Amino acid sequence: MENIWLFGYGSLIWNPDIPYIDLSVARLNGFVRRFWQGSHDHRGTQQMPGRVVTLVPCEQGHCDGIAYLVSEQNANKVFKQLDYREKNGYEQLSIDLSLLTDNSKIGITYIAKETNQAFLGSASMQSIAAQIISCSGPSGENKDYLFQLANSLREYNFIDEHVFELESLVKNLERIS
Ligand code: SIN
Repeated sequence: MENIWLFGYGSLIWNPDIPYIDLSVARLNGFVRRFWQGSHDHRGTQQMPGRVVTLVPCEQGHCDGIAYLVSEQNANKVFKQLDYREKNGYEQLSIDLSLLTDNSKIGITYIAKETNQAFLGSASMQSIAAQIISCSGPSGENKDYLFQLANSLREYNFIDEHVFELESLVKNLERIS
């Protein structure tokens, strides 16, 4: 193995919890970020799965996130740890990333494809928001995952209307409950 770029677009943005030797904002073309993956182990339970993000193929779309450079020495350990953390439906995918300083770098990301058993898929924004506000799991409340993601995207000046719209729907639901 060599030093390898890991692309994070969800919790890996604000909580990488891995050793890395460099970090860069990064763009992945051909995918969008969507709250379409069920979470039974982090932000929900078997009975009440929460919703977390995955990457959905979209020819004209892109997803902005953070790329971490993992050293060759740490790579085996780090990917073992991440395989465990992302075990509820995610798999490694080799991708072509655009970094600020380098337009084309091979990297790895974790994607939950529509064929995995925890995949929930599309739903109306209202019903996704209603699910997010009512779920929580061992890693905390589902709405905090959404709020932390939205805050991190703003910190990096990333725009993601799907995430920002859900954030405002959930905040509205909070106000009226
Ligand atoms: C990621 O952050 O890149 C994967 C999805 C997640 O753990 O939220």
